Amino acid sequence: MPQGLLGIEGLSRPEIQAILDRSRDFQPRGDQRFRKLDLLRGRMVVNLFFEASTRTRTSFEIAARRLGADAVSITAQASSVSKGESLVDTLNTLAAMHPDAIIMRHAASGAPHFLQRYLETPIINAGDGTHEHPTQALLDARTILDRGQTLEGLRVAIIGDIAHSRVARSNVHLLSKFGAHIVLCGPASLLPRELENIASGVTLTTDMNEAICGADVIMMLRVQLERQHEAAFPANEYFQFYGLRLEHLQLAKPEVIVMHPGPINRGREISSEVADSQRSVILNQVENGIAVRMAVLESVLGAKKNGNAAH
Ligand code: NCD
Repeated sequence: MPQGLLGIEGLSRPEIQAILDRSRDFQPRGDQRFRKLDLLRGRMVVNLFFEASTRTRTSFEIAARRLGADAVSITAQASSVSKGESLVDTLNTLAAMHPDAIIMRHAASGAPHFLQRYLETPIINAGDGTHEHPTQALLDARTILDRGQTLEGLRVAIIGDIAHSRVARSNVHLLSKFGAHIVLCGPASLLPRELENIASGVTLTTDMNEAICGADVIMMLRVQLERQHEAAFPANEYFQFYGLRLEHLQLAKPEVIVMHPGPINRGREISSEVADSQRSVILNQVENGIAVRMAVLESVLGAKKNGNAAH
């Protein structure tokens, strides 16, 4: 079986820890830039994105190049998908060009898992529908750990459109494996009750103050309008109840950090004062995206080379 990275749910704690540890080696020190290495020289990855992306696609590309690999990016609009080619045919066509991995983002939950059953090439999931976004959870964990926090016992409030968030799901899986307490918070219509059972250590609330009270980490989510079929909340009304403002931070631990996977919508889920505050680590998350994706690529491509799968 090819060993890609489809989700956090199927990984063990030591497998996750290994990626988090390895990503530290790839972080730039001080004000240095990312180092250019040749660990994956001669290898090639294909980025296949069926949904919009700025951070994830760019950082996978940069990560591959920093390791000496070649990276080719394809967006669905510019590919034969727009000429009616099926997903399986598109993937088989790309696989016939022998990339070492295919990094894919797709609007359908489970699409990469389905394709991986038919494909020899390892697939790295860069976000599948409302299901998982494993590298986002890994870079989030790296960012929390960089602040000297251990994940065990941490109180993490995840706030916003939980129902449609693959970021929330992957984070819940990762954080619960490490013994964190996770509070999921959002309007009732965006907070499915069954999520309480998705992993241990998860509680739900529709009350934002309750979620933030005593939090070590506040993770804000974008309202995923592209996945909502009902009429959405007007932005100002949503902001009034679920937008993060400076006064909320008083309720959290003094050292609280504010995270957001991006893209942020100022004035909808987060105020500019908070997004640009000292407590915000939003740009650290972006920076860590490269180091973490370097560790993932090394693990996936290295695993194929010597037949010794890291996960
Ligand atoms: C997230 C995604 O695509 O799931 N973005 C990202 O990868 N940084 C979150 C979002 O789009 O809101």
